[in-house]
Amino acid sequence: MSAAVFAFAGQMAQAGRLAQRCGVPLHPVTVRRFPDGESLVTAQAHGARTALLLRSLDDPNAKLVELLLASAALRDGGASRVILIAPYLAYMRQDIAFHPGEAISQRVIGQLLAQWFDGVVTVDPHLHRIERLDQAIPGIPALALSAAPALIAAIRRGLDPRTVLVGPDSESRPWAQSIAVPLGLDMLVGEKVRHGDRAVTLEIPGIEQVAGRPVLLVDDLISSGTTLVACAALLQAAGAGKIEAVATHVLASPDDMAQMAAAGITRIRATDAAAHPAATIPLAGVLADAIRAADWLD
Ligand code: R5P
Repeated sequence: MSAAVFAFAGQMAQAGRLAQRCGVPLHPVTVRRFPDGESLVTAQAHGARTALLLRSLDDPNAKLVELLLASAALRDGGASRVILIAPYLAYMRQDIAFHPGEAISQRVIGQLLAQWFDGVVTVDPHLHRIERLDQAIPGIPALALSAAPALIAAIRRGLDPRTVLVGPDSESRPWAQSIAVPLGLDMLVGEKVRHGDRAVTLEIPGIEQVAGRPVLLVDDLISSGTTLVACAALLQAAGAGKIEAVATHVLASPDDMAQMAAAGITRIRATDAAAHPAATIPLAGVLADAIRAADWLD
C-alpha cells in the first residue's frame, strides 16, 4: 500500500473523510499519557510508504511533541516520507520579536517542522509579514491552502442576496474579497486596533449600508471572539438584520461562544480544521485535491 492517512483521537472523523477523498486507508495513532505528563505515542505504518499524518495544532504544545514522536515511529516502521496535514497550524503569528527577548515562534516551530516532515499542508495560516508558508517552513514543500472554496459552497446554500459581507480588519480584505466576489455580495472591511488579548476597538467605514440587511461576518480565525463581539455591537447599533459569522478556524471556548451569541450573532460556522462544535464545513475536498496535486498519493 503506497499512502495512508494517520490520525490521533479527536480528529478521526475528519481524517476518515480525508482518507475517503484520497482513496487510501486510515490508521489511528494512539497516545498513552503517563502520570508525569509524558506521552507514549504508537503509530504503526501498516506498509504505507507515504504517511499523511493529520493533526491540527490548536492547543499545540503537547500535540507538537506527540507529532514528532509519531513521525519518528512511522519512519521507523518503514514510511519513506511523512507529510504533516495540519489544517490549523499554530505559532505562525509571532514572526518578529515585538519586545526584547521574545522568541520568534514562527521561525522556531517552522524549522522544527521542516526537520521532521517531508511536506506540510495547512489552511489559511495566520501569516503577517511573510507572503509564503515556505518562508516560515524552509526547504520542504509547505502548502498554504485557502478555505474559500469550502466556505463559498457552504455560504451559497440558502444565501439572501442582500447579505453584506463584513471583514473585521484590513488584513481580512483579500480573504473577504475572495468570498464576496464569487458570491456577488456587497462587502465592508473594518479598521481594527488591538489593545490586548481581549480588547479591540473597531470602526466599519460604510456601516450605514447594513441597515435592515443580513450581515455575514467573515474572519480567518475566531479565537476569543472579541473581534466579532465588537463588530456585532457596531452592526446592531447600525440597524443590521440577522448577523451570522463564518470562519476558517474556530477555537472559541463555550463561554466565548455564549458571549458572541449574546452580542447578537445568531449562527457561527467554521471549517473542520480544528475539532469544535461549530466546525461543520468539511475541508476534506480542499485537502485531498492539494495532496493529489502534490503527487503524495503514489
Ligand atoms: C486577527 O488578525 C485575526 O484575523 C482575527 O481577527 C483574530 O485572531 C480573532 O481573534 P479574537 O477572536 O480573539 O478577537
